[in-house]
Amino acid sequence: MSMEASLPADIAPGAPVAVIGGGRMGAAIAQIFAGAGHIVHLVEPSEKVRAGLPASLATITERRGQPRDLVDRITIHSGINPALAPIAIAIEAVSENLALKQRIFAELDALCTDAILATNTSVIPVGDIARDVMRRDRVVGTHFWNPPYAVRLVEVVQAADTSDATVAITMAVMEAIGQQPVHVRKDVPGFIGNRLQHALKREAIALVENGICDAATVDFVVRNSFGARLGIMGPLEQSDMVGLDLTLAIHEVVLPDLDRTPGPQQLLKDLVASGRTGASVGEGFRRWSADETAELRNRLDKALLGKKD
Ligand SMILES: NC(=O)c1ccc[n+]([C@@H]2O[C@H](COP(=O)([O-])OP(=O)(O)OC[C@H]3O[C@@H](n4cnc5c(N)ncnc54)[C@H](O)[C@@H]3O)[C@@H](O)[C@H]2O)c1
Repeated sequence: MSMEASLPADIAPGAPVAVIGGGRMGAAIAQIFAGAGHIVHLVEPSEKVRAGLPASLATITERRGQPRDLVDRITIHSGINPALAPIAIAIEAVSENLALKQRIFAELDALCTDAILATNTSVIPVGDIARDVMRRDRVVGTHFWNPPYAVRLVEVVQAADTSDATVAITMAVMEAIGQQPVHVRKDVPGFIGNRLQHALKREAIALVENGICDAATVDFVVRNSFGARLGIMGPLEQSDMVGLDLTLAIHEVVLPDLDRTPGPQQLLKDLVASGRTGASVGEGFRRWSADETAELRNRLDKALLGKKD
């Protein structure tokens, strides 16, 4: 019998699914599956996080204008257990820790013999997470963005051992639950979106570190120049529009001067070492009051939820 024989042919709307990890991403992903009619098993070991889940699931449902009772399709568990055995697909959304993810995948591999096993890792290669899985043909990346019900893109990552059937079924499932899947054909760290995003962040930090401008100016320039266009026209479309000869002339001058620090920059390491880890503690690249943080979050949510394709 082929190793792929026990994959589901497709995943019907009512099929049971599991989401492992009930934090920021896991709760929202569970709500999306429930909203699309699936029975959802949501696994979250932290008692504190579990206690907050009914309220956060209700808030997301309300924000999306969906019927309140859809959260009744979600059962919350404190650990992976035999109730998960019949699931068609598992989405792992635990903390970004390779050893933890490897343990969870080995457990799911033993218990859920007919399921697709997907990881929501932001940057870790899917093949590394699948290291201890026997049937690696059914392991795939499903990189959702935050908040996933508003930023609907999902990068479906094909690792070296992931079968074409696993990719095809996963892409179909993502479409069926209302997301926008794209196929990432190689398992590189950061996939597509985070490679692009963090290439920009590296240069942004270098501009501040090298005294060219302050952090507020970096953000102001991005928001009010090319960032204003990005949701409408991607960087390669924009290159075609202005002409590749101009793009080439610009690259001849600017690429040799861009930051090429091979790891995290000193400024970022210093901020983290001094406890200035960002808005949640009141300071990162800039200072944040609680009101400013809430106002920016609300503005972002409103803009994203109102956005059409
Ligand atoms: N936050 C984002 O913007 C974002 C976006 C895309 C992808 N991701 C990725 O999604 C994953 C989750 O991120 P998050 O922001 O939701 O993190 P989070 O810290 O909010 O949630 C992680 C949850 O996993 C739980 N957990 C820990 N050990 C577990 C176990 N053994 N079994 C089940 N659950 C366990 C934790 O208690 C926590 O509630 C990470 O891999 C992250 O890189 C995050």
